[in-house]
Amino acid sequence: MNARNLIPLLAASTIMTTNCSSNNVASREFGKTPSGETVELYTLKNAKGVEAAISTYGGVVVSLKVPDRAGALGDIVLGFDDFKGYLIPPPYFGAIVGRYGNRIAHAQFTLDGVDYKLAKNDGDNTLHGGKRGFDKVLWKAKPGPGQSLELTYLSKDGEEGYPGNLSVTVVYTLTDDNELKIDYTATTDKDTVLNLTNHSYFNLAGQGEGDILGHELTLNADRYTPVDKGLIPTGELRSVEGTPFDFRQPHAIGERIGSNDEQMVLGGGYDHNFVLNRSGDGLSLAAKVTAAKSGRVLEVLTTEPAIQFYTGNFLDGTIHGKGGKVYGLRSAFCLETQHYPDSPNHPAFPSTELKPGQTYHTTTVFRFSQS
Ligand code: GLA
Repeated sequence: MNARNLIPLLAASTIMTTNCSSNNVASREFGKTPSGETVELYTLKNAKGVEAAISTYGGVVVSLKVPDRAGALGDIVLGFDDFKGYLIPPPYFGAIVGRYGNRIAHAQFTLDGVDYKLAKNDGDNTLHGGKRGFDKVLWKAKPGPGQSLELTYLSKDGEEGYPGNLSVTVVYTLTDDNELKIDYTATTDKDTVLNLTNHSYFNLAGQGEGDILGHELTLNADRYTPVDKGLIPTGELRSVEGTPFDFRQPHAIGERIGSNDEQMVLGGGYDHNFVLNRSGDGLSLAAKVTAAKSGRVLEVLTTEPAIQFYTGNFLDGTIHGKGGKVYGLRSAFCLETQHYPDSPNHPAFPSTELKPGQTYHTTTVFRFSQS
């Protein structure tokens, strides 16, 4: 073989490694971690052209393109075009959050009589898994059947202070019904606690297209867990009746966000865990958001008992995201399906414990349609 024949072969192998396709799930190199590991970006695409791009770093949903009323695709999650944006790091944009999503008070808990001390990364508390949570680690990826991607991660015994080797699998599936389904599975070799979620920041008008105050939200929750000034639940399950937290009928997110309700002031807006009205263990509708102008509708279904509704109160315009868009105050909302924050310190809350021999499994579906 002469040198001339080698050139097309080399070119072909370059394309294979940077744009390999398995089960029609495309992937490309997204960047390198500071230690030189390659980060891949996988793109799931359904029959209707809906697209979800997922990074092996943090399992981040980097982009999610869904149609508006006129059928025009728009990217409706905050994030970065360039992998380097994720190293700064952003406030959990699109990431898988674990080992324990949300807060644990004083960064400690007791399990089986043993005191565990966790990393303090939110004042005196631990938030979203600690200093290097699941949003900041590299996951192993394997395209699955249809438009799905399986991500796996082994969280070692003692990582961020948590007990037990925890083997985690997260499967993202994009269905032809315009649903992004997330299945979380985990097993442990020692008693531990966990609370896995996804931290996508949505703006149904399109990422970087102003604030979300005009979006209408319905939350299927009669009660929520009020918090103290560190945003730790007090233990009370409070009725939403007659408060700005009552979304049992649709309300614009911004309608009551400026209220002087003590809880709204403590959260700097909505940053609260809502206790879902559920019947049975299966998927049940937790939330619905409609954006009148674009006509995009998001429904959230979950097997989880609760959901954190967060209105991007810490976004302040300092982050410039995809396409150079400025992410200002309340330019997105999060609906983080989960167990209640600080459950390991509240025996009355549904348990977040996992024991060897048990399998943790939860499912959340983000379903998109038009109004
Ligand atoms: C969660 C928390 C918020 C905030 C964001 C990330 O939703 O509840 O208080 O920490 O994550 O900025």
